[in-house]
Amino acid sequence: MAVMTRLFAGSALKLAQLPSACNYLVSACNYPLAQEIRDRTRGTITPGFPGPQPREPHRETPHGKRAPMNTDLTGRTALVTGSTSGIGRAIAAEFARAGAEVVVNGRGADRVASTADELRAETGGKVRGIAADISTADGAEQLTTELPDVDVLVNNAGIFSASPVFEIPDAEWNRFFEVNVLSGVRMARHYTPRMVQRGWGRVVFISSESSIFIPTEMVHYGMTKTAQLSIARGMAQEVAGTGVTVNSVLPGPTLTPGVEEFIRDQVGPDVPFEEAERRFIAEQRPSSLLGRLIRPAEVANLVLYAGSDAGSATSGAALRADGGVAPSLA
Ligand SMILES: NC(=O)c1ccc[n+]([C@@H]2O[C@H](COP(=O)([O-])OP(=O)(O)OC[C@H]3O[C@@H](n4cnc5c(N)ncnc54)[C@H](OP(=O)(O)O)[C@@H]3O)[C@@H](O)[C@H]2O)c1
Repeated sequence: MAVMTRLFAGSALKLAQLPSACNYLVSACNYPLAQEIRDRTRGTITPGFPGPQPREPHRETPHGKRAPMNTDLTGRTALVTGSTSGIGRAIAAEFARAGAEVVVNGRGADRVASTADELRAETGGKVRGIAADISTADGAEQLTTELPDVDVLVNNAGIFSASPVFEIPDAEWNRFFEVNVLSGVRMARHYTPRMVQRGWGRVVFISSESSIFIPTEMVHYGMTKTAQLSIARGMAQEVAGTGVTVNSVLPGPTLTPGVEEFIRDQVGPDVPFEEAERRFIAEQRPSSLLGRLIRPAEVANLVLYAGSDAGSATSGAALRADGGVAPSLA
């Protein structure tokens, strides 16, 4: 009886999204699988049917050729944490251009507001901002209270610094964990079950090539980036078959303001930046197949794939936009 209740207890919205009543028949006939999924997900997921389909999964032109992949985010709300700078800002811009209503985030109200203004002017899209320090429970709650639902969550906020591994104190290990890992857990824990209830959602963790190619000078950073892969994979398994996907994107060395400053400090102010960039890659990231720093917009392209209908068959994956710097096959 409890199973039947669950099978028929979906919201009106979920019913409207079912391709046909046949799905309920499949559900009803598929009790063992449904039970297994329900057990595995502790009852958070309505079992037994494949979940909503992408809006236009097989788009064809009149000539039978494939239309471009569907990255249209019109009508979707997207939160990009840590989007006042660098990769997060580029993702926010890309999502705004794709039609999403974008919410940018950072710690300072002024910077958040000016970033939202700039992105509106640059993209012509809908962009607003919420300032909150999501490395704290209070800051995360403030954000989720102000913005209870999103369709796309990009956990991008993150910090990095170089430190010899045996000299990193407890407080620093904890700080890296709270900013880079726990912030994203808090966001995903709030938003993902609500996406499941609505039958569509995208969660993307911005990890790093440092998750699989641990930098000796940034072990504490690498630790947080590897943790993100485990969390994203586990969450993807938890929401299997619901229309919600969870993935990680792994950027490689990317030309953000912080990285530019880091390289300029290393080579000195007299060397033109193009030469400094070439030297940095040749000497410090020699495994790069790209031979240059990645541009934030190049990372944003892959995040848009994972954050839209285009990525409907990709979940639990670690997607690389690392210029091939991590010398592994998968
Ligand atoms: N750049 C790279 O080469 C590279 C490579 C691989 C992976 N990544 C990853 O990509 C992500 C972005 O890196 P980036 O280089 O673009 O960084 P960035 O330019 O330094 O930007 C970091 C962003 O995070 C925000 N932020 C930091 N702490 C926050 C907190 N507690 N709460 C809310 N927002 C916070 C900052 O906003 P405010 O300062 O305004 O608060 C800023 O918008 C990170 O997760 C990083 O690990 C970067």
